[in-house]
Amino acid sequence: MKKLIAANWKMFKTPEEASAYTQEFSALLKARALENREILVFVPAINLCTLAHENKQSALPFMFGVQNFYPAKEGAFTGENSLEAIKGMQATWALVGHSERRSLFNESDEFLADKTEFALNTGYKVCFCVGETLEEREEGKLTQVLKSQLEKGLAKLPASYKSEDLAIAYEPVWAIGTGKVASIADIKEAHALVRELLTQILSNKAQETRILYGGSVKADNAEAILAIDNVDGVLVGGASLQAESFNAIARA
Ligand code: PGA
Repeated sequence: MKKLIAANWKMFKTPEEASAYTQEFSALLKARALENREILVFVPAINLCTLAHENKQSALPFMFGVQNFYPAKEGAFTGENSLEAIKGMQATWALVGHSERRSLFNESDEFLADKTEFALNTGYKVCFCVGETLEEREEGKLTQVLKSQLEKGLAKLPASYKSEDLAIAYEPVWAIGTGKVASIADIKEAHALVRELLTQILSNKAQETRILYGGSVKADNAEAILAIDNVDGVLVGGASLQAESFNAIARA
């Protein structure tokens, strides 16, 4: 199973910046082949046209995906993005359940289950995020929170989906954008727990489902994190915004 190294640009980069990054990052990746790694970048919808254009000019050595969409083919959903329309731009992944969508935009577990089902049925791969707040961790609710988020969010998986079409990102909310990385022991424990919960929910597909760690991953801690049991990749925010730094993480 190849490790999945994913970037989340969040709401950063103009189309011009996206284009410059894409060219620089592609050149870095093409300069030295990467074995056993798959690279993915979640870009803001406004940059999808730019990446599609760059991809047409010269096939990109990485996959890209969308950070948000509405789970309907089309319709009166002002301001939302259609996955059907985005398909034409060669985006292949959709991010679902990021803690910023959960907390800032009130996306419920039920809505996230609909998004996951819709994206898979529309032919996208899904990176589904889970994670506890500091308060929940301190109250000893880690298992309860992850179990509930996974059970509810994955409740509507289409029977035909393949294990490589789904990745889970474990991102402790208190480690996102804070510079606070979970300890190696904490990551090991949480990832073992996610694997166990996935076994209950997905049965035979659980072992083949990649579990990524996210939360203040940087070039200097990525190697140690990627070496932990049950860590099949990383989801990187801040440190993915510079092509050089994300390239270093991809090679860690
Ligand atoms: P961070 O963000 O790497 O900046 O902590 C991770 C994420 O939000 O996915």
